[in-house]
Amino acid sequence: MEWQQYELEREQRLANARDHAASIPLEEIDVGHWDLMRDDTIWPYFERLRREEPVYYHKDSIVGPFWSVTNYELIKAVDSDAEQFSSEPTIGLNEVSAEDSASSFISMDDPHHAVQRKAVAPVAGPRNLAALEPQIRGRVVGILESLPIGETFNWVDKVSIELTTQMLATLFDFPFEDRHLLTRWSDIATSPRKAGLWDTVEERQRELNECLQYMTRLRDERAKKPGGYDLLTMLAQNEGTKNMSPVQFLGNLLLLIIGGNDTTRNSISGGVLAMNRWPEEFKKVKADRSKIPNAVAEIIRWQTPLAFMRRTTTRDVDLAGTVIPKGERVLMWYASGNRDESVFENADVLDVDRTNARQHLSFGFGVHRCMGNRVAELQLRILWEEMLERYSQIEVVGAPIRAISNFVRGYTHLPVRLHV
Ligand code: HEM
Repeated sequence: MEWQQYELEREQRLANARDHAASIPLEEIDVGHWDLMRDDTIWPYFERLRREEPVYYHKDSIVGPFWSVTNYELIKAVDSDAEQFSSEPTIGLNEVSAEDSASSFISMDDPHHAVQRKAVAPVAGPRNLAALEPQIRGRVVGILESLPIGETFNWVDKVSIELTTQMLATLFDFPFEDRHLLTRWSDIATSPRKAGLWDTVEERQRELNECLQYMTRLRDERAKKPGGYDLLTMLAQNEGTKNMSPVQFLGNLLLLIIGGNDTTRNSISGGVLAMNRWPEEFKKVKADRSKIPNAVAEIIRWQTPLAFMRRTTTRDVDLAGTVIPKGERVLMWYASGNRDESVFENADVLDVDRTNARQHLSFGFGVHRCMGNRVAELQLRILWEEMLERYSQIEVVGAPIRAISNFVRGYTHLPVRLHV
């Protein structure tokens, strides 16, 4: 399907969703249903929840009962209150075993969380990133120079995935020729069985064990070598992390691989899509490159690569007049907070000059705020600088295909043609 045709049909779908969202009883709204995300029609449902019940209990959701928090200020309030809203046992919707629950620091509360985060945080800090910038730029240029001009290709495969994979290899100082293993492990860990990457639980576990063995070997080598700013050296040499159990080591590796993979990948694809929907914005950044950093923040707001994070109440909590009982699943819908009109005017639209774009919630808020946010921004900034240098247009020529997930807001396919 042509892009224009896709856009017309999308408008129609959205108009239908607006009517539907306005007419059904609140209890029929299920923002946990992945179809709403896949069809990109979730927005009017969020809008209604924000307006009528920003703290809402979905008792009959397809994913089982949970609470939605949908407005900007309340999401911040929940994310800032780790005592009453715990990240344990998990930040995902599905319940996990006790062993898996303590397997990475994103799903731990302080003080354990803080110790492990502190050990690896420097890799994503300003000093390390400044040192990595020339290497990242070199890799971005290498990828862009290999792309065909005037021919249709899948942007997701050739650019978004390739670039994030190379970036991860840089952060881990991972053997470059084996870098595709990183994407493979991330995909295996995050894909549901129905996506077709694995058939049996044993098969999945076998591949994850391969990841563990490969990484353990690298870590043991690095433990003996002094210095080094890559993630594995840090995990190997830091007091807080060097004696982790295999389950914890694997959990933290997967956190770092997944954290840096799907999210950045989908911001890269989402940015190109949004610049096609609002071509004036592309012209503005093309004419004035100093707008790129703000445009990057705005792309990350607009895309919101992770739709939510989950918390679990540690006691009965009164949130804006609604009592959430102890032990309940609470989803902070960043995707909804980022479209909250009381904070972001014309929130559905990409606006590279938006003055408060940086206040988006895509990286979360509070003690778990994304550790790799500067890495992601750096990567996107360099990519846009190099793309604007080379191309007069990055034209989307057909329908994007979205991932089937209520959590990762992403794309598997984006047909693009480059013009110089
Ligand atoms: C646009 C790209 C990215 C987005 C939207 C994103 C989003 C998020 C979000 C929403 C959280 C949870 C925040 C919370 O619970 O309050 C998070 C945590 C985290 N992210 Fe990212 N992320 C991105 C890129 C990255 C990259 C590139 C890395 C690694 C290099 C990374 C590593 C992590 C880690 C380790 C955590 C756990 C932090 C903690 O629990 O203290 N992320 N990210």
